[in-house]
Amino acid sequence: MLIKPAYSPPEVWRDLVHELKRAARDRKHPMRSFVLSSQGPEGPDACYVVLRHFTDEPALLFYTDGRSAKYQNLQQESHTCSVFYHPRQRFQLRCYARARCHQGDERAQKYWQEVPAPGRKAYTPDYAPGTPLPAPETAHQWSRLSDSQFFSVVELLPYRWDVLQLDGGAHRRLIFTRAANSWEGRWVAP
Ligand SMILES: Cc1cc2nc3c(=O)[nH]c(=O)nc-3n(C[C@H](O)[C@H](O)[C@H](O)COP(=O)(O)O)c2cc1C
Repeated sequence: MLIKPAYSPPEVWRDLVHELKRAARDRKHPMRSFVLSSQGPEGPDACYVVLRHFTDEPALLFYTDGRSAKYQNLQQESHTCSVFYHPRQRFQLRCYARARCHQGDERAQKYWQEVPAPGRKAYTPDYAPGTPLPAPETAHQWSRLSDSQFFSVVELLPYRWDVLQLDGGAHRRLIFTRAANSWEGRWVAP
């Protein structure tokens, strides 16, 4: 349980940070992937992405192909909402953040060096995500496997967190917003 009955907001914040750091390191963690929603030209869009890093800033980082719709959306409109759910601890986390996009810059190069060769395939296919194909296998072509041209890193810079703890008939919900150098938690009705 993340929001234990006697917990204060700072205690919840401490445990939340711990959980996100673990999620970024552990492939099997239930919060390793999350649903990112963005604003597209035709309205809201959402998809799963993998949490690659959770930094002290704090920022949540994921990687993508710069040709993908989500990356194009984020370049136009940087407001995002991401949703996580931890089934065992039974809490939902919504993270409202501005996206900072990196493609072909120093930051993208730094993380590209850490992506092992097999993982690079996700960011280097010949066909851009969403390209119409005559058959699915047409997409499985990589003639520039070591080319980092499309590899992109997105930093999500949170400005608001909304945590809902399910607990029988006694659900609890906390909103965290920035206050100087810390995060201020306020209880709200679940
Ligand atoms: C569990 C899971 C994790 C995913 N992680 C990523 C990711 O980290 N980066 C990414 O670009 N796509 C990821 N995807 C694929 C996206 O959800 C999406 O289908 C794809 O990137 C095309 O998105 P687009 O509409 O932006 O072109 C993941 C999909 C699943 C099911």
